[in-house]
Amino acid sequence: MNTKPIGLFDSGVGGTSIWKEIRALLPFENTLYLADSKNAPYGTQSQEKIIELSIKNTQYLVNKGCKIIVIACNTATTNAIDILRAQFNVPIIGIEPAIKPAALKTQTKAIGILATKGTLSSALFHKTTNLYASDISIVERVGEGLVSLIEEGKMNSLEMTELLKLYTKPMVDSNIDYLVLGCTHYPYLIPQLLKLLPKKVSIIDSGLAVARHTKATLESNNLINNENTIGKNLFYINTNNTQTMSSLLGKNRKVEYLDF
Ligand code: DGL
Repeated sequence: MNTKPIGLFDSGVGGTSIWKEIRALLPFENTLYLADSKNAPYGTQSQEKIIELSIKNTQYLVNKGCKIIVIACNTATTNAIDILRAQFNVPIIGIEPAIKPAALKTQTKAIGILATKGTLSSALFHKTTNLYASDISIVERVGEGLVSLIEEGKMNSLEMTELLKLYTKPMVDSNIDYLVLGCTHYPYLIPQLLKLLPKKVSIIDSGLAVARHTKATLESNNLINNENTIGKNLFYINTNNTQTMSSLLGKNRKVEYLDF
């Protein structure tokens, strides 16, 4: 069982930002990444549909023998993780916007959050916010259009810059000192955001925390791969977007088309 892969899925290429953190922390693990780009974005779809797609992706990874599933998508986590955990008999790790660390660190008592509609409207997001940030001003913004542009590889387009300016302006006007990235696609926008935001604003995402949680869960379940050889990594995508994904992964990593 220990040599079986870690399975990851996202609505598309964004979860590769999580894969990179996991790979850096657990280089000897084998991994299998599923990019459901055909159905991206998830963030504008109904909860019912997000659950249906999340079950389908998890089932595929479980059928492939994955020993643990990482939902590399905030939208799928906040809408479907309880159902996936009830339905599948493997450890399931999710990712949620890092509201708690931002709320603990803020000096201005104002934080910004950029995420999908599906995440910001989820019960889990509201629960976390009420628990950790009830005394903080939270400036929420749906990152409408961002995921689609990233899927098309248009991270540095003029269109992207204009959208980011529009979405962050109310946050800057509210004197935020932390911006929480609540979508796994958005870490690819950090270079752009750093140019737009005042110096005092720090950007937080949950990638490293998820990698650490994955490692701790493998350890506590005795599932760490103890073979001292660099892991094998498979990447599958169900559109012809292999090139965008491959360039995000870097190092000429091979991405294969898979009809799923
Ligand atoms: N990467 C997904 C997330 O973290 C993007 C969601 C979408 O497809 O809209 O939420």
